[in-house]
Amino acid sequence: MGRLEDKVAVVTGAAMGNGWGITKVFGREGAHVAMLDVSDEVSGAAKEFEGQGYKVSVCKVDITDFNAVKKAVDEVARKLGKIDILVNNAGIAKLVPFLEMTDEIRDLHFDVNINGAWNCTKAALPFMVEKNYGRIVNISSVTGPIVTDTGQTAYAITKSALWGFTKALAMEVVRNNITVNAICPGMIDTPMVRNGIAEFMPDDPQSVIDILASGIPMKKLGTPEDIGEMAAFLASDAAGYITGQPFVVDGGSTLPESALSVMD
Ligand SMILES: NC(=O)c1ccc[n+]([C@@H]2O[C@H](COP(=O)([O-])OP(=O)(O)OC[C@H]3O[C@@H](n4cnc5c(N)ncnc54)[C@H](O)[C@@H]3O)[C@@H](O)[C@H]2O)c1
Repeated sequence: MGRLEDKVAVVTGAAMGNGWGITKVFGREGAHVAMLDVSDEVSGAAKEFEGQGYKVSVCKVDITDFNAVKKAVDEVARKLGKIDILVNNAGIAKLVPFLEMTDEIRDLHFDVNINGAWNCTKAALPFMVEKNYGRIVNISSVTGPIVTDTGQTAYAITKSALWGFTKALAMEVVRNNITVNAICPGMIDTPMVRNGIAEFMPDDPQSVIDILASGIPMKKLGTPEDIGEMAAFLASDAAGYITGQPFVVDGGSTLPESALSVMD
């Protein structure tokens, strides 16, 4: 028996990166995963997964569009009878120094990372309240609430906002047997990170990955499955007494007090 047997999970940003890692772990744990993503790649990822015998459905949707999200989530609930789990994972990150950051880039972060999670939660929560059961997992970050690099003002605001959202919503739905928690990943090896590095150092992206890894006490980036494992725990019945909390998954990257600790 998997930890999520017979559960219906909606995972946003499921086509690649952390969302794909979460989808794979959830599928292995027995959940039916509704993969929401704006990218065409979501269909290929779902087909690959379905071919291995896992239960998935695909919704190509932009989470900034509430009507489209509601239609997709309603369709999942109509077909499968319920929504047990929502993982608000889809997000974007563009590194731009504050004085160069346009309002458009700022608002894009707010729209996808904050309003997107808001829209998906608005659409899915009524089905959880109806069944008096639910697990919501928001993918925040260590960036913003705990640490930051330059160029991350807009991104950091959104990831800090998800902490506040997690706590406030957890309080509101605690009597409905619905938990709301957040995961704060450190540096995870996903297309978001790889593409960002390729823009910055197109000739030798691996050298940047190596530098990043050398600053992490575990000396490696995390995998999307590392995030999937934490999400599966928080979405499982084993985590039933945990709500409103952020969980850091970062290979110890927020631990060192000085550079001495990460020197080889
Ligand atoms: N990779 C990391 O190191 C890291 C660290 C901390 C937090 N996170 C968070 O993890 C989440 C996933 O990041 P990732 O690294 O896997 O990114 P990624 O770019 O590799 O994948 C993001 C996915 O979200 C989808 N998406 C983007 N905008 C969307 C929209 N408007 N509607 C629907 N889908 C949309 C993309 O198509 C893509 O499939 C994000 O919230 C990110 O902030 C990532």
